[in-house]
Amino acid sequence: MKFFADTADTADIADLAATGLLDGVTTNPSLIAKSGRDFIEVTREICGLVDGPVSAEVVALDHAGMMREAEILRKIASNVCIKVPLTLDGLKTCKALTGEGTMVNVTLCFSANQALLAAKAGATFVSPFVGRHDDNGYDGMELISDIRLIYDNYAFETQILVASVRHVMHVYEAAKIGADVMTAPPAVIRALVKHVLTDKGIEGFMADWAKTGQSIG
Ligand code: E4P
Repeated sequence: MKFFADTADTADIADLAATGLLDGVTTNPSLIAKSGRDFIEVTREICGLVDGPVSAEVVALDHAGMMREAEILRKIASNVCIKVPLTLDGLKTCKALTGEGTMVNVTLCFSANQALLAAKAGATFVSPFVGRHDDNGYDGMELISDIRLIYDNYAFETQILVASVRHVMHVYEAAKIGADVMTAPPAVIRALVKHVLTDKGIEGFMADWAKTGQSIG
């Protein structure tokens, strides 16, 4: 499973990239606003921090406008992945861009039928929002299972990018289902390593090691 960081905070991205565990980054207009940075400038900086895909979202709602914005965004770096909303104009834009070899992430997916359309449009990634789905009384993970089943039925190559991840159990469930990618806030990625017995074990080993009076090297 690939791990993407869902943030436009470059310090956080650099810190996670240094672990060697980060495969890409996703941003959206809200995350860009939160960064307080210029969209093009911060996207360029993020693209330099990771080798993998960096999703940059268009804000136009019509096909022509999306194409115009994508033209600007894809020039930023070769690892830019254009993010488009799951609308007919977004799907049309997806088809056109992937046909030209540009990576596309179709975002705001909330149904298996929408995911089917994204795959038919040749999307590189489809982003089902599990957290927001849960918030609205639906089962986000059931959506991931359904999309996995449908994509496998037809051998679609579109990667399932689990988005709107809120906690470590979302990551665990998505990995069991076989989702290709998950994108999560840096705090959730860091929380994956935590276990009380690991901390307790280290504490015990360190206490016993101190009693030996030895040092390594
Ligand atoms: C995905 O690409 C989105 O940026 C993100 O996961 C949305 O998450 P939220 O529902 O926590 O805003």
